[in-house]
Amino acid sequence: MAPEALSQVLRQLPAPTDPNLLVGTSTADDAAVYGLTGDLALVQTVDFFPPVVDDPYDYGQIAVANAISDVYAMGGKPFMGLNIVCFPSETLPHDILVDILKGGHDKAKEAGVVVAGGHTIDDKEPKYGMVVTGLVKPGQQVTNAGAKPGDLLYLTKPLGIGIITTAIKAGVVSDQTLADAVKLMTTLNRAASEAMMDVGVHACTDVTGFGFLGHLLEMAKGSQVQALIRRSQVPVLQDAWDLADNGVIPAGTLRNLAWISPQVTWDSSLDELDKILLADAQTSGGLLIAVAPDRAAALERSLAAHGVETVALVGEMGASVADSHIVIDP
Ligand code: CO
Ligand code: CO
Ligand code: CO
Repeated sequence: MAPEALSQVLRQLPAPTDPNLLVGTSTADDAAVYGLTGDLALVQTVDFFPPVVDDPYDYGQIAVANAISDVYAMGGKPFMGLNIVCFPSETLPHDILVDILKGGHDKAKEAGVVVAGGHTIDDKEPKYGMVVTGLVKPGQQVTNAGAKPGDLLYLTKPLGIGIITTAIKAGVVSDQTLADAVKLMTTLNRAASEAMMDVGVHACTDVTGFGFLGHLLEMAKGSQVQALIRRSQVPVLQDAWDLADNGVIPAGTLRNLAWISPQVTWDSSLDELDKILLADAQTSGGLLIAVAPDRAAALERSLAAHGVETVALVGEMGASVADSHIVIDP
């Protein structure tokens, strides 16, 4: 569901009013944060989706890396998970479900997350994901609403995964492209999260279904600032570029592009492919981090020291505004 349609639905519900709810539904953030005591808050999130790759073990890993990522994006430390499983138990062999869950549990273990249970229902199409609970010190949660004018913007994974997973479903990718995409999607955002928490940053979100520009727009709106992106600095998978050039363009990516377009000004030198890549819906994408300029060098050092492979300075936040807008330079 597009963010606008979703927020229209949510507006029909009463807004949560519990004073202990430190982050709720008001700013389209990655996870809820609930204060328990003066120095302890819960970070909680849930995510699940149909298979994005054919291999059940890889799919399980990807679904859980993606679910846990919302805790990392808030600067939390995940510690417990509950499986959410939809599975056609009468038409698919149960070994497939075992492999999905093994992938999920192995990825959770890598993140230090104990899988404590879950719930399974019968469904025509398999879906898998996890409820993830983490901890953060109240006040230290990193929301998507804290960016300040002049902040520098960093991205920690390249874009293009949505195009590649669409091509995987169509059976038109090489084994190497598939392996690279699986590696990227199963890479936890743990190192990037720990790196930013060591340094102290203003805002963070992970880049997932609404694409780089969609999640950036939510951060800009939540923070009430403009955003300036330099297209040439945004890392993009070459395979995704080539596939999009050959017409592999996911429907979700086009929906993202239509949704954000009224809020984006593109330099005239940019073409349709640039727009599609920047709007591409990601699965288990990287963190998008807004940091004060005088902390940026420390963040770059910290990300590198934690072993984060992609550390891309993609742009900056501009002036304070009531209605945020993104400008894309070449
Ligand atoms: Co998220
Ligand atoms: Co999520
Ligand atoms: Co956040």
